[in-house]
Amino acid sequence: HRHLLGIEPLAPSDITSLLDLADDYVTLNRTAKHSDVLAGLTQINMFFENSTRTQASFEIAGKRLGADVMNMAMQASSIKKGETLIDTAMTLNAMHPDLLVVRHPQSGAVDLLAQKVNCAVLNAGDGRHEHPTQALLDALTIRRAKGRLHRLSIAICGDIAHSRVARSNIMLLGKMENRIRLIAPPTLMPSGIEDFGVEVFDDMAEGLKDVDVVMMLRLQKERMDGGFIPSEREYYHRFGLDSEKLAHAKPDAIVMHPGPMNRGVEIDGTLADDINRSVIQEQVEMGVAVRMAAMDLLAQNLRTERNAA
Ligand code: CP
Repeated sequence: HRHLLGIEPLAPSDITSLLDLADDYVTLNRTAKHSDVLAGLTQINMFFENSTRTQASFEIAGKRLGADVMNMAMQASSIKKGETLIDTAMTLNAMHPDLLVVRHPQSGAVDLLAQKVNCAVLNAGDGRHEHPTQALLDALTIRRAKGRLHRLSIAICGDIAHSRVARSNIMLLGKMENRIRLIAPPTLMPSGIEDFGVEVFDDMAEGLKDVDVVMMLRLQKERMDGGFIPSEREYYHRFGLDSEKLAHAKPDAIVMHPGPMNRGVEIDGTLADDINRSVIQEQVEMGVAVRMAAMDLLAQNLRTERNAA
């Protein structure tokens, strides 16, 4: 692959190879913290939407692999003067970057940009479409906690309708032959989602029954376009994860959240901090390793392509 734009085009073997390499990078990160596989390459991070985890981990990942990393401050860029996304991308392309990491509020914007530039593009989240490195880091977290990434029963709960994390996870976990249960109020469940081979629930007790993994999602009010916004109190009562609701899952079920989380809205803060159940901090750690693996693999392909030209 030239780019990492989504989970959709990946084969199960691509996913397994990337996770195997990411496992090696977990070990590197816990010991030496440095390699030179991206030495001589330039990585530009362009975030048109806020980020803590994704932006910081892409920057750390690039630096640990020896790349020259530049973070574009999009709020201070000429986008503010009316320059378009494509003109901005073409301007940066003329400076010969090798890896472009892009987050954008519009679904499809990163794919469009990838068609215009000569380097490898990594999608760091586009609108409601995809967030592939999030799904890959979730997969690595699950594989390390459960010892496998197939034939697990996994619940994804909350604001499915607005979530690129849910979309990428549904695709990845489905490709790896897991049983996926989606739990959300009907207003936050996309219509026709059953076509993706998932089971749909609007009750936490039913949906969480005997699952191995519980993945909570943030209520994304910024994407609700003035439509239905549930009351936080009512939402927490029916769909917020606490230890009482978690008791319906398997006794060793793990609790995940991609972050940023709203404590007391979709998840109880004490449960989120319970290291016996919650793997939220491991997810963040896996984020660096997965992004190192993704950039390493794309750089290998880029070098092969350039050597052949
Ligand atoms: N999970 C995630 O994408 O977090 P950020 O928005 O902080 O990058």
